[in-house]
Amino acid sequence: MTIDSFILDLPKCELHVHIEGTLEPELKFALAARNGVTLPFTDAAQMRAAYAFHDLPSFLALYYGGMDVLLTEADFYDLAMAYLTRAHAQTVLYAEIFFDPQAHTARGVRFGAVIDGLRRAQMDAERLLGVRSQLIMCFLRDLSADSAMATLLESLPYKAWIVGVGLDSDEKGNPPAKFACVFARARDEGFQLTMHCDVNQEDSVGHIWDCVNLIGVSRIDHGVNALEDPSLCALLAERGLGLTVCPISNAFVTDGPQTDVVGRMMDLGMRVTVNSDDPAYFGGYIAENFVLVQRDLNLGPEGLAKLSRNAFEAAWLPRSQKDRYLAVVDRYLAVSQG
Ligand code: ADE
Ligand code: ZN
Repeated sequence: MTIDSFILDLPKCELHVHIEGTLEPELKFALAARNGVTLPFTDAAQMRAAYAFHDLPSFLALYYGGMDVLLTEADFYDLAMAYLTRAHAQTVLYAEIFFDPQAHTARGVRFGAVIDGLRRAQMDAERLLGVRSQLIMCFLRDLSADSAMATLLESLPYKAWIVGVGLDSDEKGNPPAKFACVFARARDEGFQLTMHCDVNQEDSVGHIWDCVNLIGVSRIDHGVNALEDPSLCALLAERGLGLTVCPISNAFVTDGPQTDVVGRMMDLGMRVTVNSDDPAYFGGYIAENFVLVQRDLNLGPEGLAKLSRNAFEAAWLPRSQKDRYLAVVDRYLAVSQG
């Protein structure tokens, strides 16, 4: 078995994927045709060629503009079903999926249309493919805390369908503290908490500290700058906080894939995980991210299985379900080495 096929078949858990970031150009064109939306590109190849980002804001501008084709419940169903089908083909057994309701409700799409479509796809994917998933509702940090709070309140009738809340979009000038009240309310409502701490932002390290001490998150999305502060690393390791690193994404919006960071975090006993972020925009799903990490760190089966175990450990699942997934990873490793 080659190391690439080991990676492809390794039972995996994805914890950092934005469902809107899985919108492939081909599906964008199909939805545009269905909804009578005109796209500023002639075909999918031309659209892909325009995906040239140099930092987070340049990516986000194109990314949010590309969501205009998502209008109906059926669109969100098709989007999520396409992702879950791809995830299943890469042996993702379980995924926690971000969605950005404000990016849709601001365009006049009903919150119910978004979540009904996503939920129906989740149910079908579990029944037809056996891939399980839960939703994480992200607030857009460049909008106000009031807007985030209104979104949180709007989501409450759907609480049973949402495992946690997160924070994404442009971090510059939008620190964790801006959303302390919203996240405190989310905690009271029973949601799990995470936040993006994107790479090389102003005061990235301070933001990670605030995520832990002020907000009380149980995971951090990206968070690679934690390595600049040994005491922060020690705390994250001691608490077993998951860090959802996305190497291919990092290569697009920073100066490199930060794969060395994954190795250093593993060495420090931190619960680092490997994920895809916005695979339709960055050109790689979870398996391609694992392959990149494997190449750069020269990881063998044990190291790769460790990354997969980290993700199941960091998942927002009951202990008994984590243990079942961990046993599947262990069995896979034993059989592939036997
Ligand atoms: N939205 C989608 N991907 C993102 C990322 N990597 N950082 C912040 N917001 C995002
Ligand atoms: Zn992200």
